Amino acid sequence: MGAASEPSGGAMALQQVADEVRGCTRCALSAGRTKAVPGEGNVRSDVLLVGEGPGAREDATGRPFVGPAGQLLDELLSAIGWQRADVFITNVVKCRPPGNRDPEPVEVAACAGYLDRQERALDPAVVVTLGRHSLQRYLPGARIGAVHGHLRRSSSGQHVFPMYHPAAALHQASLRETLFSDMRGLPAALLAAREAIGGERTTAVQAESTTADDVEQMTLF
Ligand code: URA
Ligand code: SF4
Repeated sequence: MGAASEPSGGAMALQQVADEVRGCTRCALSAGRTKAVPGEGNVRSDVLLVGEGPGAREDATGRPFVGPAGQLLDELLSAIGWQRADVFITNVVKCRPPGNRDPEPVEVAACAGYLDRQERALDPAVVVTLGRHSLQRYLPGARIGAVHGHLRRSSSGQHVFPMYHPAAALHQASLRETLFSDMRGLPAALLAAREAIGGERTTAVQAESTTADDVEQMTLF
């Protein structure tokens, strides 16, 4: 009965988070932002990508990963036959740190509740961390050089697939091939995580089993 066209509970929860983020003044980053960047993507996806924080272009548009790092992220996804519309993308902090400085711990802490709620709404099989700040949230103390490209479990049982931040490869060309090589391991990591979870959820990532009704594509901006 029309259920497929109605927003799911998860979609509504994500919309609620996005609305709150756009009006949020919980930390000092609110003062310098043009637009907050709540995140966007496929609310049915099993894959959540978590970056660091908005840059200049993200701040101007309110969308995650739409600048140079985002262009590389698009290339990385297409290398495994995926698109942005197959995943959900957000950041540890939703407002741009001035001059693209690292987010302060107090800002990460102030913003953490939004990401907690996005995780609960999406219930992803795998969280792909992009860069150090995202990695520290899930695997405190882990070193990116040791764990990148390997599926790990967080202390709360989440499956985490750490990757370098795409922006790092824009400054250090040798990381580019590492990023592509790690990304090529993501589909297998997703399957392993799903198997471990034992769930039978279908996602848009499984294109062959996805019908138009299955894909509840929602852009959160
Ligand atoms: N870098 C990030 O970490 N996040 C974005 O959204 C864009 C660039
Ligand atoms: Fe609120 Fe997060 Fe933006 Fe800080 S970074 S103002 S906590 S949405």
